[in-house]
Amino acid sequence: MKTNLFLCLLLAVLQSAFLANADSMKQKRGGGDTSTIDLFAGLKLQQAQYMTDKSNSPGFTTENGAPSSGYFNIQRAGQDGPLLIQSTQMLDSLAHFVRERIPERIVHARGWGAWGKFEVTTDFAEKYSFAPAFKKGAVHPILMRFSTVGGQSGSPDAARDPRGFAIKIKTKQGVLDWVFNNTPVFFIRNPLKFPVFIHTQKTNPQTNERDPNMVFDYLWQNPEASMQFMRLFSDLGTPYGARHMNGWSGHTYRLVKQDGSWVYVKVQLFTDQGIKNFTAAEATQIGGENQEWATKDLFDSIEAKQYPSWTVKFAVKTPEEGKKYRYNVNDLTKDWLDATWYEVGKMTLNQNPRNYFDEIESSHFSPSNMVPGWAPSEDPVLQSRLFSYNDAGRYRIGSNYNKLPVNCPFNTVGNYDRSGVMPVTGDYGNQPIYPSSAGTYKPASKDETVAPLIKLYNNATIETYVGEATDIDYEQPRYFYQHLSANDKKNLHSNFAGAMSKVTQPNVVSNVIKMFNKIDPNLAKGVTAAIAAAKKG
Ligand code: HEM
Ligand SMILES: *[C@@H]1O[C@H](CO)[C@@H](O)[C@H](O)[C@H]1NC(C)=O
Ligand SMILES: *[C@@H]1O[C@H](CO)[C@@H](O)[C@H](O)[C@H]1NC(C)=O
Repeated sequence: MKTNLFLCLLLAVLQSAFLANADSMKQKRGGGDTSTIDLFAGLKLQQAQYMTDKSNSPGFTTENGAPSSGYFNIQRAGQDGPLLIQSTQMLDSLAHFVRERIPERIVHARGWGAWGKFEVTTDFAEKYSFAPAFKKGAVHPILMRFSTVGGQSGSPDAARDPRGFAIKIKTKQGVLDWVFNNTPVFFIRNPLKFPVFIHTQKTNPQTNERDPNMVFDYLWQNPEASMQFMRLFSDLGTPYGARHMNGWSGHTYRLVKQDGSWVYVKVQLFTDQGIKNFTAAEATQIGGENQEWATKDLFDSIEAKQYPSWTVKFAVKTPEEGKKYRYNVNDLTKDWLDATWYEVGKMTLNQNPRNYFDEIESSHFSPSNMVPGWAPSEDPVLQSRLFSYNDAGRYRIGSNYNKLPVNCPFNTVGNYDRSGVMPVTGDYGNQPIYPSSAGTYKPASKDETVAPLIKLYNNATIETYVGEATDIDYEQPRYFYQHLSANDKKNLHSNFAGAMSKVTQPNVVSNVIKMFNKIDPNLAKGVTAAIAAAKKG
């Protein structure tokens, strides 16, 4: 696995070399002279050899590679004179410096991650999906990135927040991204609520402080969020780093068989290190002492060869079971409380990034990165995410985000998308930019790319989807609450009170308490008492 990145780079180089020789695919060029392309490909190979030659110690140079006699050389008009504009070493360095940042992710900006492998250890997934990637014995390189959701890239790792649990699986049929969280459910089931919900978790537009008024005013008006709020304000909302938490797909997806039949699937990654949370007091202390605590915890454990791992399990429902289930299987605010989880494989992290920016900040994940045999459900939130992530990639990194070594697939990409900002892999050389009759990429067979057969039950009229809360939305939070130990309940009450005692907007606390009363009267009483205690100090 140590060679992951190098392989990706080499792939780019070999691809150019391959292109130079792929006569059958050549576009007709004016004079028929291909020597410049051959020379260019040769140069890239030379460069790759040069970069990996350990005996070659690089000298200090300017940005164009010319030798420079000093780190801080500037040219001046005389000893005390003004600087000359021909001080290009300084101009380039200062210009590069102010461009060191790319836009941070609008959510999940604070992250940490590592490389590893996904081993498929059972034949469970094979029974439901024709994906070669899920065949027993398959091993895939992976990248995992963990994150908090609301904070900026410099915010404390230990914040009370869900944790992102993003996994890039580099299979031989393309990249499969599992863009999961450490929670089985989410705050919303209508994707149009995502931007406003996220606003309430970020800072107040005037004070630039996080604002419990917005947080709790959102909660009582959107009770379908209550299950996720219960988890968030329990000690599960402050996990002990990345190694001691589970990951969940949240959404249902589809596993597809060769004949187009399918089942709904949810994925859960069970930590082999055991669940550990911080109490609110511990999280506050750790967050204050070391902002990058979870980053350090993951990095240090991998350096010490204590490789964290997760057991990957699937739970499935047939379409008929899905229809009969008490909760809508495409409602992201609902868990499958009756699920049986079947082991599929193991994920192990065993290599730290060599460069954070190149391998973690520049990584890009998307639920729309899917492989044959794996398909989305009709969950509206998932459907909207199929658009939003690649849109974010194009904005944050540029149109060629998928060609960066960290993001590119191992297999060769063949299509007609070309050029754009930073075409880092040679822009496919002289291969045709349209389906040329003289030779082009060979499409896969229908057998290799079977899509799920989905029956549409409704007439093709335009439906307005709102997804307003009803009584059924209180059942799972009630179940969660009633299964907590007395001590966990106490912590939940006081964690809520810690934030709610700072609410100043009229009627917000009383409306939240009214809603808590529908979940369980003891929750309403417990939080009310804890708020009174917090206010007394
Ligand atoms: C309508 C709902 C949602 C929208 C529009 C949305 C949108 C986004 C966007 C724009 C990003 C930043 C991507 C980037 O800059 O590379 C992001 C990151 C992320 N989202 Fe979502 N999201 C939604 C719901 C969810 C849900 C339900 C989950 C988990 C089940 C999730 C998990 C993540 C994770 C883990 C990341 C960080 C990925 C990384 O490490 O780069 N999101 N989301
Ligand atoms: C983590 O928090 C949850 C919710 O309060 C609790 O049920 C669980 O016992 C906690 N686990 C540990 C190991 O502290
Ligand atoms: C579809 O439209 C027909 C004709 O208006 C109606 O009889 C039928 O009930 C509709 N089906 C559904 C599932 O709404």
